[in-house]
Amino acid sequence: MSDELPERGRVAFYDTKSYARVYFDAAGAAGGMEIVYQEFRLEAANAFTAEGGVAACVFVNDKVDRRCLEALAGIGVGLVALRCAGFNNVDVKAAGELGLTVVRVPAYSPHAVAEHAVALLLTLNRKIHRAYNRVRELNFSLGGLVGFDLFEKRVGIVGTGKIGRIAAQIFRGFGCEVIAYDPFPQVEWAQANGVEYAGFEELMRTCDVVSLHLPLTPETHHLLNAESISRMKKGAYLINTSRGKLVDSAAVIQALKSGQLGGVALDVYEEEEGVFFEDHSETALQDDVLARLLTFPNVLVTSHQAFLTEEALRAIAETTMDSIGRFARGEAAVAERVVK
Ligand code: NAI
Repeated sequence: MSDELPERGRVAFYDTKSYARVYFDAAGAAGGMEIVYQEFRLEAANAFTAEGGVAACVFVNDKVDRRCLEALAGIGVGLVALRCAGFNNVDVKAAGELGLTVVRVPAYSPHAVAEHAVALLLTLNRKIHRAYNRVRELNFSLGGLVGFDLFEKRVGIVGTGKIGRIAAQIFRGFGCEVIAYDPFPQVEWAQANGVEYAGFEELMRTCDVVSLHLPLTPETHHLLNAESISRMKKGAYLINTSRGKLVDSAAVIQALKSGQLGGVALDVYEEEEGVFFEDHSETALQDDVLARLLTFPNVLVTSHQAFLTEEALRAIAETTMDSIGRFARGEAAVAERVVK
């Protein structure tokens, strides 16, 4: 531990995996922080394990509700550091009331997520996932592998923040017509990149592909539901790399059965906690909705891996350890406070 740091320059990390630890080890060593890795997800019942540390560092599926925050405050942990951009799993109002600081990593590599969204669409549309398996079994037939050109297709980007804007630009590179919806439009950016803003209704009604890049909030929960999906163009493709609960999975299943949706690619799933990031290959999958989704040939699910690039992991580790170090040293300028 560095001399500049107070004694409590220690931090408990939850829901950690080896592929991320190497980046945190490197950043932690540089900042002089001692890291205690836990494989389980943080919740009220196990919050005592953060005792003696300056911070609890959490990821997308830790359950940082009011009870958990009360437990952390009770053992003197002053900081919750999210090593991700979204913060829907933290009760930030309760944190503020309890005097806890919450920080996140607002941008690490928006390219990683945007590129994954496009990779999902290309894989799904051009049936690469099916072709890969087929060829490995020496089946070189092409039946069922017909896709469509992305060129001149109409792509709807819902949420033109850091990730949505990059996704839009990539789609423009394919020669797509890109329509965007965001309550806070980036007008200059849209003009410069040939993107047109439209209302949510129009986007849903007219686009061949809809890609979600907005945060999960109480207002956006199940934004894609039976009703809104029924207003989409018949056979449209839906891509969700944002948060699972933006989409009503049961409604998606019905829309896939009826052909209302032509394809669905999900990097996130509304009940992903406890399923994603883990190996369940030798146990029975308990989630019947996810199991049903996985039976469709035109559904592609990845396990919340859109962020998983070397560049993103390095940036996440550096920003997170920098924020924790600053907090531990009592510096006012902690990067991107979600709540003080
Ligand atoms: P950002 O904060 O830069 O942009 C979000 C945009 O959504 C903003 O422009 C905002 O005005 C807009 N928005 C808010 N409410 C909206 C609504 N009702 N309809 C349409 N737009 C709305 O966030 P960023 O960095 O672009 O990330 C977007 C989301 O991607 C995050 O909230 C997070 O949930 C998700 N994400 C997923 C990752 C993954 O590995 N799958 C990794 C990183 C982020």
